Formats: sequence, C-alpha cells, structure tokens
Amino acid sequence: MIAPVLAAVGGSGAVPVIILIVALVGFGIAYFVVGPGQRKGPKRNADIPLAMRPYHADEELETTGMERAMAWGVALAVFSSLFLALYWLIEPTRINNAVDEFYASDVEHGREEYQNACAACHGVNLEGGSAPHPDPDVEAPWPAPALDNIVARYQDSEVVEDVHQHIMLTLIYGRDGTPMQAFGVQEGGSYSDNQLEQITAYILSVQTGEIPEAQEFVGASGDDVFDNNCARCHGAEAEGWVGPQLQNVFERYGWSGEDDETLGSARAAVEHAVRVGRYVPGEAPMPSFDQELTDDAIDAVIDHLEGLQETGGPRVGQIGGPPRTGDEDEPADDGETAEQDDTDEEEGET
Ligand code: HEC
Ligand code: HEC
Repeated sequence: MIAPVLAAVGGSGAVPVIILIVALVGFGIAYFVVGPGQRKGPKRNADIPLAMRPYHADEELETTGMERAMAWGVALAVFSSLFLALYWLIEPTRINNAVDEFYASDVEHGREEYQNACAACHGVNLEGGSAPHPDPDVEAPWPAPALDNIVARYQDSEVVEDVHQHIMLTLIYGRDGTPMQAFGVQEGGSYSDNQLEQITAYILSVQTGEIPEAQEFVGASGDDVFDNNCARCHGAEAEGWVGPQLQNVFERYGWSGEDDETLGSARAAVEHAVRVGRYVPGEAPMPSFDQELTDDAIDAVIDHLEGLQETGGPRVGQIGGPPRTGDEDEPADDGETAEQDDTDEEEGET
C-alpha cells in the first residue's frame, strides 16, 4: 500500500513520507492506548455528560494509572533519544548525497545546453572551432577557443584570477564586436544565471588540462603572424576594430620617432601587452599570446608593427571599428587638421 505512494513521491522524497507515516501511526496508537480514545474505564453512564462522568478511583490512579503514564514517558524519551542519535548520524550523508545529485543533474543539463547553444562554434567536445567574422568583408574566420583546457590556460594569468567567474561573465555579457554573443537575460539573451551556472559546471567538469604547443614558426613573416592572430581585432592595417588601432601604439608608449632607447621601451611595452593580454569584462579582451606564439613569432609581429608606426598622429587613443562607434569623432585623416598642419610645418622647418 505504501509502495505506490513512495514511488509517486520519488526516491529522495520518500524519507519525509516514511517519517510522516510512522508519526501518524504512532499518534493513532497513543490515542487509543492512553489518550481519550481508550476503551477502558467506566463507560456505562453514556447518558451522563462527559465532564460529570466518574473517573478512575484514586487507588487506581495512584498505582496502575501512574505506572502506565510513566512507562509511556520512558518509552517516548528512549524513542526520541534514539531517533535524534540516528538522525545525527544519517543526515550529513544524506545532505552530501543530495549535493552530489544536484551537481550531477546540473552538469547533465549544462551538457545539453552546451550542445544546443555552443557546440557549433566551440566544438562538440569543447575542442575549439571558429565562427565567421562579424564584419562581412573579412573572410578569415574568427577562432572560438577550446574550452576543455580553459582552466589550464588561465592558470598563471595576470588578467583572469577566477576562471569560474571569467566564464560566467563571458557568458552573461558576451564580447562586444566578436562572434561571442551575450547569453544572459540581463543582456537580452535567453539564459538565466542558473542555466549559465549549469553550462559553466559542465565546462569545468570536463577539463583536460592540455594546452597545445605554441604554433611552430616556420618562416612565416610578421605580416602573416599579424593577419592570423591580430587582424581580426585590430584590423587588417592595424587601423582598429574591437581593439585599438595600433598604427601609433609605439608613440603612445613614449617612442620619440628616433631609433633610440624610447624605441626599446615602447617595444617592450607592446610585447608585454601581447604576452600578458588585458581583460575588460563584456568587451573583447586582448588575449594572452604567451602560450600561443613562439618568441620568434612575437618578435616578428612586433617588427611588423614597428614598420607600420606613424608619429605626430591625431589618433592617439582612438579606438577603431563599428563596436565602439558611440562617440562618432571622425578621425582627422592623415593629420589634415589645421593644428596638425602647423606642427608638421614647424617640425619640417627646424
Ligand atoms: C557564433 C559562435 C559562438 C557561439 C555560439 C558561442 N561562442 Fe563562445 N566564443 C566565440 C568566439 C569567437 C570567442 C572568442 C572571442 C574573442 O576572440 O575574444 C568565444 C569566447 C568564449 C569564451 C572565452 C574563452 C577564453 O578563453 O577566454 C567562453 C568561456 C565561451 N566563449 C563560452 C561559450 C559558451 C558556453 C557558449 C554557449 C552558451 C558559447 N561560448 C557560444 C564564439 C562563440
Ligand atoms: C580578441 C581580440 C584581440 C586580438 C585577437 C588581439 N588583440 Fe590586441 N587588443 C585587443 C583589445 C580589446 C585591446 C585593448 C585592451 C584594453 O582595453 O586595454 C588590445 C590592446 C592591444 C595592445 C595595447 C594597445 C594600447 O594602446 O595600449 C597591443 C600592443 C595589442 N593589442 C597588440 C596585439 C597583437 C600584436 C595581436 C596579435 C598577436 C593582438 N593584439 C591580438 C584585442 C585583441
């Protein structure tokens, strides 16, 4: 009789039901044995009002009646002490099992959501993949990083300290200007924080810890390295997209335009940005290329940038590309503003 009830309530819900049934049965027994339901005692005078019926004789009350009540007291005390002890022993295991169960179901839900929403770009087994560039004129696809090694990749990172949080923020806000869209409801996506936590739990549960070797740098020019790794964010001519334009980044880092020590320190600053990366939640980060490019490739791409550098530009700090066109300041083309002309001429004369 109880079995179908338990089956209906489901495995873990069965415990409270059992407790409830035991308690009800116990209450019923007590009602008839010692409570108002008992059949003992005088019941002949059924027509006398309840409050006026004669009760047990004093003698009986002081002997058997009292003993019976005390025996019940002892029995109940023993029962509660055993019950509490048992509860205390069993409860922690029960809680742990429940936590494990919830975690397992989170991971399972996360796996399903991942396959629906993410696998197309990041790969069915989280091995990474690619997506079309948001700018239809750019043919080269945008790499979607592998996620099965994300913990290992950020282990020694200076820009990301908490990988769980990094994944959650990336999911909620996406990355403006990249194919990685925002999934959080607060950003117009269709996923609650809870669902995103489940996806994150899934990602974190399948980490391999393997980071592929840096790409072998076989005679590729700095130009190639730039096209393959930087152009998608900084533009084909380093004119800027979601990342700032890099055509006068050396000057921004203090280069005077001469081949002197300011050149060395500007190169070092650029190298630092390339190796370490930068991270602003919700925006395209500057990835760290320390693990991805060999030292030679990093040198070559910095040489390539050095070849592009202009000085005396009006573009200092200008950020190029559609994602940030909120401030529509037209860049003064090639320094053709009046002010710029003046300075140029002065420089030319001296
Ligand atoms: C349309 C393709 C696309 C889809 C769909 C997509 N992503 Fe991405 N994702 C990307 C790209 C591209 C990047 C890299 C952006 C960049 O270069 O900064 C990225 C970056 C990320 C990152 C940051 C990785 C890192 O190393 O910092 C995480 C985490 C991530 N995606 C998780 C997900 C999850 C989880 C889903 C599914 C809910 C998802 N993405 C759906 C394309 C996609
Ligand atoms: C996923 C997009 C992305 C990729 C790929 C990328 N960058 Fe960046 N980069 C950025 C963003 C965004 C910033 C600005 C970060 C900030 O807000 O400080 C940046 C900043 C920089 C800076 C510092 C600029 C300054 O004014 O301080 C340099 C130098 C740089 N990137 C070089 C490179 C090079 C070289 C490559 C290729 C090896 C590259 N980046 C690849 C997005 C990217």
